[in-house]
Amino acid sequence: MSAQEVDRDKIREQLLAEIARADDLEVLEDVRVASLGRNGTITSLMKSVGQLEPQERKEAGRIFNSLKQEITAALANKQEQLKALQLSARLASETVDITLPVRQDPAGTIHPISQTIDEMVTIFAQMGFVVADGPHIESDFNNFTALNIPPEHPARQEHDTFYLPEKEDGSRLVLRTHTSPVQIRTMVSQSPPIRIIVPGRTFRADYDATHSPMFHQIEGLVIDEETHMGHLKGCLIDFCRNFFDVDDLPVRFRPSYFPFTEPSAEMDIGCSRDSGGLKIGRQGNSGAGDWLEILGCGMVNPRVLQNCNIDPQRYQGFAFGLGIERAAMLKYGIPDLRTFFESDLRWLRHYGFSALDMPGAVGA
Ligand code: PHE
Repeated sequence: MSAQEVDRDKIREQLLAEIARADDLEVLEDVRVASLGRNGTITSLMKSVGQLEPQERKEAGRIFNSLKQEITAALANKQEQLKALQLSARLASETVDITLPVRQDPAGTIHPISQTIDEMVTIFAQMGFVVADGPHIESDFNNFTALNIPPEHPARQEHDTFYLPEKEDGSRLVLRTHTSPVQIRTMVSQSPPIRIIVPGRTFRADYDATHSPMFHQIEGLVIDEETHMGHLKGCLIDFCRNFFDVDDLPVRFRPSYFPFTEPSAEMDIGCSRDSGGLKIGRQGNSGAGDWLEILGCGMVNPRVLQNCNIDPQRYQGFAFGLGIERAAMLKYGIPDLRTFFESDLRWLRHYGFSALDMPGAVGA
């Protein structure tokens, strides 16, 4: 046996014993430094090779190299074992109490507009409506012409509507003044039966306690071969009773006018102002009932169907549109519409909703 082999066997035995004995990662690291570190035993052996006679060097290099590899592998192996032991000890000592209530995150709230949209969509989804949407910048055709709104209609005036600069061909794009253009987009691209709900942003040049230049609407559209005015009324009455959570909510339909529906109506809900504040629901005993206008609706005008290449002899249906801010103000007692968009943190904390609240159809 060569002198190198004797050295190797001695060091090998000693190191393997130390590695086997190491019972935590720190001790193991000490063994690594003492053997493979800059001044470690194996490192010094490797260095000593340079001092040997040239004919001995190759063999000595091979012997020490295999020692280095063996010890490196033994260290890595033991390190893995110790880590696994450490982990199972931690798992055994730490416990998770799954019965603890969820921590409420105080950092943020759901905006009342988002909450209201979620509530409305939930109710209509249960009636079989699907959500559709469209762009905020619309063609004059989708926003007005296809909806049978004539050129002289006041909504087309500059002071009511935000127009984009005229294009070279003389046409103008608009910031949509209602969600009704999505009726057109849907009827042009899908064939009946259609049952959609369209929550979204709309724009008009208005600003006071009940109007903001940017606001939200939700539009509904049903087109098939059978749907009639009775369905319109039933659907909207169910919706309002559900949304306001008042089972015997009084409602009434007043004749009205929209160019895109015929006949058209406005729907009012009952409220009382007896006790100073406004309360949605049964009117006071005095009989002097108060009414609040809540939405516009009607049977889709056959001309609108025609504009979308839908045969009015075969298909009919209803449409409605309501303002989301207004509904939220009534339901949650928010007095000024402008506050929705002021981003006042005190207001948001007061009127906002917890992210953990599931918006549900109350009473459903
Ligand atoms: N688009 C109408 C508005 O903005 C509301 C409406 C929609 C009326 C659908 C009837 C049918 O006032």
